[in-house]
Amino acid sequence: MRRVVAVANQKGGVGKTTTAVNLAFALAELGHAVLLVDIDPQGNATSGLSGAAQSSEPQQSTLSVYDILIRNVPLVDVARPVRPRLDLAPASQDLVGAGIELATLERRERRLQESLTDWQIKYNIVLIDTPPSLDLLTLNALVAADSVLIPIQCEYYALEGLSSLMATIQRVRTALNPALEVAGIVLTMFDARNRLSHDVAREVRAHFPDRLFSTAIPRNVRLSESPSHGLSIFEYEARSAGAESYRALAAEFAARMDGRDAPAEVETVERAGDGTDDKDRPPP
Ligand SMILES: Nc1ncnc2c1ncn2[C@@H]1O[C@H](COP(=O)(O)OP(=O)(O)OP(=O)(O)O)[C@@H](O)[C@H]1O
Ligand SMILES: [Mg+2]
Repeated sequence: MRRVVAVANQKGGVGKTTTAVNLAFALAELGHAVLLVDIDPQGNATSGLSGAAQSSEPQQSTLSVYDILIRNVPLVDVARPVRPRLDLAPASQDLVGAGIELATLERRERRLQESLTDWQIKYNIVLIDTPPSLDLLTLNALVAADSVLIPIQCEYYALEGLSSLMATIQRVRTALNPALEVAGIVLTMFDARNRLSHDVAREVRAHFPDRLFSTAIPRNVRLSESPSHGLSIFEYEARSAGAESYRALAAEFAARMDGRDAPAEVETVERAGDGTDDKDRPPP
């Protein structure tokens, strides 16, 4: 499996970064060589892995995704090791203005794609965490990617905006990247006790029957705590429902990318978040 996957949804706060970080970590645990690219000026994926740095390199690169987009630095030169088998191309403050700077550059929507040379030598999966907009930064991710992973929060208006995302993906296909596929849709913050979660799941499945991952990510307080420690859920609370769900999603994701069927043991939408949130457990 060699894939470049953009985690995208222009709706804010739906679990893009939580999914990108924890899926990246879980895929690395499964043995894949993973590069996580943070193209969001908020830099949440970068800070979300800032704890427990693994690198033994004496001098870490201070380059960021900004240098990739504006200064033509190859992506592999910006990536730095943050965990075993997991490298990060970090966001930095100057990414905030990059959207405007990009607008004046040639081939402005292909900058990330063109930096992705020879990535296959080092990685088999590149995950890109995108900002909550359909701007030039997200467009760079969609042009560089071969597929899109769409997190959908199980809430009112969950599907609002999904049609414009799908239309954008279609436009990118037509004009810039004909190979772009939808890798899958993952339900986030699923609460099995809440009828609304089931309604959203049913609606998404009706619209995209073969794209919805059977693993749903439950609403889990440990998942919301782990970024403040700069840790993935697996380092923060490996036995939490959140960790189990992202482990299951990684297995299902890897199987789907490989063109295999999902492994039988993956958690299903119906079982996910069965009301046993682990918030009563003591923190580590
Ligand atoms: N399954 C979950 N259970 C509980 N809290 C969650 C879950 N997933 C994400 N969160 C929390 O919800 C908030 C939004 O999540 P996240 O940052 O992953 O969304 P996002 O789509 O990346 O947001 P943005 O659009 O701002 O980039 C964060 O505080 C995060 O910790
Ligand atoms: Mg985010």
